[in-house]
Amino acid sequence: MEDTQSGYLVLLLVFACGLAPEVAAAAEEFSDDPDATQQLVWLTDVPSTIEFIAAAEVAIIGFFQDLEIPIVSVFQSMVQQFQDVSFGISNNSEVLSYYNITGNTISLFRLVDNEQLNLEGADIESMDATKLSRFIHINSLRFVTEYNAMTVLGLFNTMIEIHLLLMMNKASPEYEENLHRYQTAAKLFQGKILFVLVDSSLKENGKVVSYFKLKETQLPALAIYRTLDDKWDTLSIAEVTVEQVQDFCEGFLKGKVLKENHKLEEKTPKEEL
Ligand SMILES: *[C@@H]1O[C@H](CO)[C@@H](O)[C@H](O)[C@H]1NC(C)=O
Ligand SMILES: *[C@@H]1O[C@H](CO)[C@@H](O)[C@H](O)[C@H]1NC(C)=O
Repeated sequence: MEDTQSGYLVLLLVFACGLAPEVAAAAEEFSDDPDATQQLVWLTDVPSTIEFIAAAEVAIIGFFQDLEIPIVSVFQSMVQQFQDVSFGISNNSEVLSYYNITGNTISLFRLVDNEQLNLEGADIESMDATKLSRFIHINSLRFVTEYNAMTVLGLFNTMIEIHLLLMMNKASPEYEENLHRYQTAAKLFQGKILFVLVDSSLKENGKVVSYFKLKETQLPALAIYRTLDDKWDTLSIAEVTVEQVQDFCEGFLKGKVLKENHKLEEKTPKEEL
């Protein structure tokens, strides 16, 4: 079809719509660790709340003026489902006023872009476990976010316009070491570039690889992409090194852009994601 050229956003949106149920299941598996028992942390003063937020890549806090409302138990039921997210709860009036809370609110805080996303008002009133779980899956962006149909929605719900994708087979023996170095590099670009991992062993991720005109044999590879103007560049690598990732990112930030997919249509507005 003609519109295979029509841009990364559209590609991702189509992908996200088409695969949501399957990948939602996979995403849950990913965060499910039967041995871990996570506690909901009661936050009773401002300093410990600040510390709690700063210590987690993704933290979620229920700020409740009233603990008897139904959303409180829905919120509590999420804790075991997301082992890699920190859950806090507070009804302390100083904590609530410090965070400018005026009604019962669930806030997601993440370090990668220093965002705070709030669910409040009518959103809170109509919230059930399915919706809250989806909200957390979509918005739990990390220093390195694994690409799937849920996180792809969150990747565009951020101010950060440059994405770096590492396309690599997660089953390869070098994966762990490479991921570790990729994470180290990600911290150097906090707030500037979102680092994404694309597992190239998954069939559905083939579209991402081919969008960047890469072949299986050219992987692992890095692709850097700017959502603002669809400019991108790629680099095949033997292994991830911090220096190489850094040079590649800095080169792109300085304007060394090699490629651009010619679009036939207007980019889908972000609001629609
Ligand atoms: C917060 O919740 C605790 C436990 O339910 C309760 O004892 C306390 O009075 C509540 N504090 C406020 C300010 O509502
Ligand atoms: C609360 O609101 C004030 C005024 O808009 C703002 O300066 C402050 O940063 C907010 N507090 C937090 C924790 O976001």
